[in-house]
Amino acid sequence: MEYKKRILITGGAGFIGSHLVRSFVKKYPHYLIVNIDKLTYAGNLASLEDIKDEPNYHFRKVDICDGIKVSEIFEEFKIDHVIHCAAESHVDRSIINPLEFVQTNVVGTVVLLNICKNFWNQKESHLFYHISTDEVYGSLGESGKFLETTPYDPRSPYSSSKASSDHFVRAYHETFKLSTVISNCSNNYGPNQFPEKLIPLCIKNIIDKKPLPIYGKGDNIRDWLFVLDHVSAIDFIFHKGTTGETYNIGGDNEWRNIDLVRALCRIMDHRLNRKKGESEQLITFVKDRQGHDQRYSIDFTKLNKELGWKPNAKFEQGLEETVDWYLQNQKWVNDVISGEYANYYQVQYEGR
Ligand code: NAD
Ligand code: TYD
Repeated sequence: MEYKKRILITGGAGFIGSHLVRSFVKKYPHYLIVNIDKLTYAGNLASLEDIKDEPNYHFRKVDICDGIKVSEIFEEFKIDHVIHCAAESHVDRSIINPLEFVQTNVVGTVVLLNICKNFWNQKESHLFYHISTDEVYGSLGESGKFLETTPYDPRSPYSSSKASSDHFVRAYHETFKLSTVISNCSNNYGPNQFPEKLIPLCIKNIIDKKPLPIYGKGDNIRDWLFVLDHVSAIDFIFHKGTTGETYNIGGDNEWRNIDLVRALCRIMDHRLNRKKGESEQLITFVKDRQGHDQRYSIDFTKLNKELGWKPNAKFEQGLEETVDWYLQNQKWVNDVISGEYANYYQVQYEGR
């Protein structure tokens, strides 16, 4: 079959990547989708069981830092577009091991950019789409929103590594005329998220009647976006975005952590037929995260006005859907937390 685009998605076995891969494989049978993933603790092929045999889909276990293997993939599949999702993604882990974040997020991104530059020399139709985070803009007080023009001010090893990779993407656009686009998105939630992140961690602990660890006073604010809304924004930007541009993606949906966890407790009490207020008893305030960013808030007017995207999901509904997915997929959860995660959980939370 003559495919219209031959797209490499990196990190397609992770949370956002797996939803993106599924969506593109199903929606665009005339695109070839090649997913490369190192399958770290966060990568899980069980999330893609339903599409693994689709004719326009291929998976290869590859580390993006391994230039030789990545080049072979480019040769084998004649890749002409990249959507780069692979990353170390958890702030708390970046505090424990910053170098791992530099390796994958910075070095890995530059390895990919170099291969694209060399492989796409002279080729007119190509795109390197870099998936990034709003955390590169730093931390807000009570007011204000991040714009695409907000100066970068990353404060954690994670956001510093993502900021650095964003700069390299822009540098390859300016210096080597590579066609690139970047999007910076707020906090995602939904099915298949690794249970180290706030929402699935709390869902799992409520099921198990374990403490819900809230950092500091619980007054830090995040903007939450349903993962499928992020995927639809990526789709808009991939097809309609302008080369060299950056687009912010957000949910217009800011919550203090404590209020979010309380809302989750109410949904879970109802779903698990527990007494009203039972799960809230599990809330435990623990030592704050070092350098904890206070507030993130995204202005996505540019994406809305220029490309016509807006988020769809209602938060209560999205949270309920997420809770139901975790309740129905407890094997998925138990499989991913059975190995390395137990040690991480102990280091991170025991005696905190
Ligand atoms: P995730 O941790 O769930 O998944 C990351 C995936 O990358 C995993 O499958 C992992 O195996 C793979 N990976 C890690 N190192 C690799 C390497 N060296 N080579 C190949 N594969 C490797 O992350 P996520 O939450 O799905 O995030 C995906 C992207 O979106 C990241 O770039 C992240 O910075 C960005 N992002 C995430 C959020 C969020 O709320 N989760 C918000 C905005 C942006
Ligand atoms: P997280 O899901 O790790 O995303 P990020 O740090 O990228 O925003 O955390 C979301 C918020 O929840 C953040 O303010 C930190 C807080 N948090 C807790 O209070 N307790 C926890 O156990 C975790 C994992 C996060």
